Amino acid sequence: MNIKGTPYRSIWVPEESSNTHANPPASVRIIDQRQLPHRFVVEDLQTKEDVFRAIRDMHLRGAPLIGAAAAYGMWLAALQQARDGGRPSAEGLLRDADDLAEARPTAVNLAWALERQKAVLREAEASGADPSVLPERLLAEAIAIADEDVAMNHAIGQQGLGLIKAMHTLNPERPVQILTHCNAGWLATVDWGTATSPMYQAHDAGIPVHVWVDETRPRNQGAQLTAWELGQHGVPHTLIVDNAGGHLMQHGQVDMVITGTDRTTRTGDVCNKIGTYLKALAAKDNGVPFYVALPSPTIDWEVRDGLTEIPIEERGEAEVRVVPGWKDDADAAAEVRICPPETRAANPAFDVTPSRLVTGLITERGVCDPSEAGLVGLFPEHDAATV
Ligand code: MRU
Repeated sequence: MNIKGTPYRSIWVPEESSNTHANPPASVRIIDQRQLPHRFVVEDLQTKEDVFRAIRDMHLRGAPLIGAAAAYGMWLAALQQARDGGRPSAEGLLRDADDLAEARPTAVNLAWALERQKAVLREAEASGADPSVLPERLLAEAIAIADEDVAMNHAIGQQGLGLIKAMHTLNPERPVQILTHCNAGWLATVDWGTATSPMYQAHDAGIPVHVWVDETRPRNQGAQLTAWELGQHGVPHTLIVDNAGGHLMQHGQVDMVITGTDRTTRTGDVCNKIGTYLKALAAKDNGVPFYVALPSPTIDWEVRDGLTEIPIEERGEAEVRVVPGWKDDADAAAEVRICPPETRAANPAFDVTPSRLVTGLITERGVCDPSEAGLVGLFPEHDAATV
């Protein structure tokens, strides 16, 4: 991602951070997404508790980035153990991984990344490696997870670019009109984004695109993050309220929808930010193709029925009752309550779009039907018959 012309990832290890417990203490750096688009604040996470809080309280968010952050959190946990007790222990670190897994429930990338780190710990134990090697091995795995995320998202962009090109050929007179929900962009991943990667790559390839950005109540990831990112990259876009998508589709103003996902079942059901399902219903009713972009770690191969088996995060009432923003005249952050003081609110953060409403899944290996046959066709290593 390019921010004011400077290339960034959404998570990185600062150069001065050493892989020891010497000074300055090692840290992982993130962009504090709660402050965007008003302030660009970089935050140092130094402990596994910092990482836990950053995930739970959404300093960072988005399924792939949550996974990468947890993987780095395991490195920090190993360094902490070295600081506190002399030597890291695989047993203690396996417990730390279980603690980190509790930070948020819905995105499967969190458990997936922590499983990879657990495998590193188990392998080190089984091979009788000296525990002092654990920090360096956990860091290497975290870096691999982050680098793989960047590569997968770039590949998703290439796959999605084909779809956008085809759409442009059908109607070359105007920019391809794409609607997206929430933020499945740079900031939700280590780089490129999932849903946004095809948009960036189409824009870079000279294919005119225009993006309808759902504001995405209650946390406004669309208004605060997606609009900001697209603006930084120069992609034409327009912010709309969450309820506008159906109307735009009825009037032929949306050529395709592309969203991200926090967990996709092996049968192709898609769990994503609350409101995605309603967009998919409207798209179906209006014959608008509805695509979901995902790197393969977002597939939960163990789950078949998204509606009954995916845990949906319930977040606090305050996110619904109080709207944060920026007061331009005071040049300061501000919050306002938008309901009577006594009104209670419910805040389910995700919903499930059944596979029947999805046109195709855009993965790093290709675009497939939202079905077990489609997914296993691209990822035969997950064919139940062979596992
Ligand atoms: O609650 P959030 O902001 O973490 O939700 C994020 C989303 O729903 C994204 O669409 C999803 O994680 C895909 S990100 C590539």
